[in-house]
Amino acid sequence: MTAAPTIPGLDNPPLQRREVLDWVAEVAELTTPDRVVWCDGSAEEWTRLTDELVEAGTFTRLDPEKKPNSFHAASDPDDVARVEERTFICSVDPKDAGVTNNWMDPAEMKATMTELYRGCMRGRTMFVIPFCMGPTNAEHPKLGVEISDSPYVVVSMHIMTRMGAQVQERLEEAGSEWVPALHSIGAPLEPGQADVAWPCNETKYISHFPETREIWSFGSGYGGNALLGKKCYSLRIASVMARDEGWLAEHMLILKLISPEDKAYYVAAAFPSACGKTNLAMLQPTIPGWRAETVGDDIAWMRFGDDGRLYAVNPEFGFFGVAPGTNWNTNPNAMRTIEHGNALFTNVALTDDGDVWWEGLEGDPQHLTSWTGDEWTPASAKPAAHPNSRYTVPISQCPVVASEWDDPQGVPISAILFGGRRKTTVPLVTESFDWQHGTFMGATMSSEMTAAAKGGKGQVRRDPMAMLPFLGYNVGDYFQHWVNVGKSADVTKLPSIFYVNWFRRGEDNRFLWPGFGENSRVLKWIIERLEGKAAATETPIGHIPSADQIDLDGISEPMEDIEASLRFDLEEWREELPLIEEWFDKIGDSLPTSMRDELEALKQRLNA
Ligand code: GDP
Ligand code: PGA
Ligand code: MN
Repeated sequence: MTAAPTIPGLDNPPLQRREVLDWVAEVAELTTPDRVVWCDGSAEEWTRLTDELVEAGTFTRLDPEKKPNSFHAASDPDDVARVEERTFICSVDPKDAGVTNNWMDPAEMKATMTELYRGCMRGRTMFVIPFCMGPTNAEHPKLGVEISDSPYVVVSMHIMTRMGAQVQERLEEAGSEWVPALHSIGAPLEPGQADVAWPCNETKYISHFPETREIWSFGSGYGGNALLGKKCYSLRIASVMARDEGWLAEHMLILKLISPEDKAYYVAAAFPSACGKTNLAMLQPTIPGWRAETVGDDIAWMRFGDDGRLYAVNPEFGFFGVAPGTNWNTNPNAMRTIEHGNALFTNVALTDDGDVWWEGLEGDPQHLTSWTGDEWTPASAKPAAHPNSRYTVPISQCPVVASEWDDPQGVPISAILFGGRRKTTVPLVTESFDWQHGTFMGATMSSEMTAAAKGGKGQVRRDPMAMLPFLGYNVGDYFQHWVNVGKSADVTKLPSIFYVNWFRRGEDNRFLWPGFGENSRVLKWIIERLEGKAAATETPIGHIPSADQIDLDGISEPMEDIEASLRFDLEEWREELPLIEEWFDKIGDSLPTSMRDELEALKQRLNA
């Protein structure tokens, strides 16, 4: 190390790995924090940091009778979601980032961000957080080290990842792969300057360097921008690793379904942010005899096992769920997971008696403190909770967590679902003809934008495989990778692909399909299709069940609505064609010819 003044804590690391120590020293020298803390992930560390966050006014401790060991945090009103326009894939060649990503030259980005990072931790603590995405006992553990000047990030990482002392041994293994992930809120404190509850910076960068497998994040404390093990590592960087190594890193929940005959099936499903992954992952089936268990709610890493089947692992350790809409009716298992405590609530409302509340939750509060800290009554014009307010809670507390959830071998996937939020056009469920057609469904899927990202809410956009904001490389190459994965496999062992839409609407904007637990009816049909036991109707877009081909026993919604949710509408699909064409044109040269072929075939079927 150089003759720079020693920063307290820097020189007593709990680990020996030379590359890690060198990188930490280099970052400390650049960012000049007041002290360095090496995180061990212990309960003492949690208590110390949550106490400090309460003291600082960032956290409010909830009533332990209602939510034990749980906290409320309100962010800066401008730091509430992922910032896609500030998210960059800095590949050496811009072609490798593709048309869907923001690109900047890696050297240029590093030069720009180095100046932002210079002195940016002044007056603050720099935390070093060793973490592992996926089980630490995996054959090739996916390790990382996040440096952050946000204690909120450390506390969140305690919930969301395996971190601290438990990953040390694997990190010390010579040659084990680890991703350096640098995060700063970008809010240095001058001597004597008072801190704010949620420091952040107006200037934000969420940058990824796919070739060198590094992440640099600046200016935001929000989950998707700051908990770098999640979207940044497990999707953007991991998708590049997966491309290079022949596996899949996907934005998918993993669900275990158990039939009345006690047979287990595993399903993975890709829906864009705030389109129902967490809810489906914790589904409580409404049909008798069927049970569901949770393996993961957001990310699936899938690779072929020795038996030729595709196995999925959930790399995460916690849920980062959308609060609004979550209640005892829509997602009772999420409610039970939260009731257990050890949870963090960000940008929800506070009740007068030390609990949390959000739109859609049971209860009829007459007075609240809104997420912006203002008084709220039922007469208030603004919502009490931000639409993208979140709960962060350990997966292990989920009452229906599958025992296999942290098995490094993963679970064998029988079906893959793609789905978005579409008012029109897309039927409740459609079965693809084969893997390539299923890949086409994923490649052309679309969704209305939600509050999970800044800007554009409600606008329909193509969101291929729900990966649009999370892909670390060229989208055309990604489609080719999906096609290749199918070609490399034994077709009889490949999962079947389905396209679903829980969000189709009637004229008065009501949802045609009741959703939530009732989605088990769709899953039952899917499983029975795999078993060759359910009937379907062939249409130009795939196989669709009619109302009498799906189990609707005991459903209370009007049959016209159910039928309308299932319907294939030729006119709507003819209107969809130019939108798909426009999307493919945008991708340009890198679009695989097989996807063009699928589009041509669809056109012909629609015009036949
Ligand atoms: P995720 O971000 O993909 O995990 O999405 P969530 O599962 O957190 O759900 C996002 C929002 O969609 C919440 O407000 C849910 O209440 C709502 N939602 C989830 N599933 C359904 C469904 O089947 N039907 C309807 N209408 N809404 C749903
Ligand atoms: P999600 O996204 O809605 O898919 O959970 C989390 C995020 O905004 O990072
Ligand atoms: Mn979710």
